[in-house]
Amino acid sequence: MEKVGIFFGSSTGNTESAAEAIKGLLGNAELFNVADTKAAKMAEFTNLIIGTSTWGVGDLQDDMEGFVSDMASVDLKGKKVALFGLGDQSSYGDTYCDGMGKVYQALQGKGCDVIGFMPTAGYEFDASVAVDGGEFVGLALDADNQGEKTDERIKTWVAKIQKEFK
Ligand SMILES: Cc1cc2nc3c(=O)[nH]c(=O)nc-3n(C[C@H](O)[C@H](O)[C@H](O)COP(=O)(O)O)c2cc1C
Repeated sequence: MEKVGIFFGSSTGNTESAAEAIKGLLGNAELFNVADTKAAKMAEFTNLIIGTSTWGVGDLQDDMEGFVSDMASVDLKGKKVALFGLGDQSSYGDTYCDGMGKVYQALQGKGCDVIGFMPTAGYEFDASVAVDGGEFVGLALDADNQGEKTDERIKTWVAKIQKEFK
């Protein structure tokens, strides 16, 4: 597997912790906080992971907002991209992990292959733009309500994306 670039945006550290755990399991990966990384950096990797939390009501995490806008001008053709998101399904059940869904939408038409979709079983929420075709478009985590499930979810997902990365 070629080196993986993990780009994350995190306001209170939950997405950052998940990103670190993912890096630990992948091994051959480099972490970038989008608060101080330009989207152009993504061009250096064939395998990419983008992680964001959701704030406001269904908004992208603050730093991720600008990063995703800048992503529009980065050539992502042929790249493998996996997404993960942090959200709170109890308090924000109508916008659960919408941030991850917004990253997914921004990737449409860019010629990259989004991998690592996951089932919605085991979550309780009403609506999410991070669901497409009945599945989450990446790994959905909930440190607020299901923190005890995070390690196992990350492990399962990393095993899956490792097989699909180049
Ligand atoms: C004011 C506020 C608004 C939030 N809005 C949403 C939301 O719309 N959807 C969601 O799934 N989670 C929402 N959350 C939950 C956060 O995404 C969650 O706590 C996440 O773990 C934070 O990750 P971070 O520390 O990496 O930023 C919100 C939390 C707060 C405090």
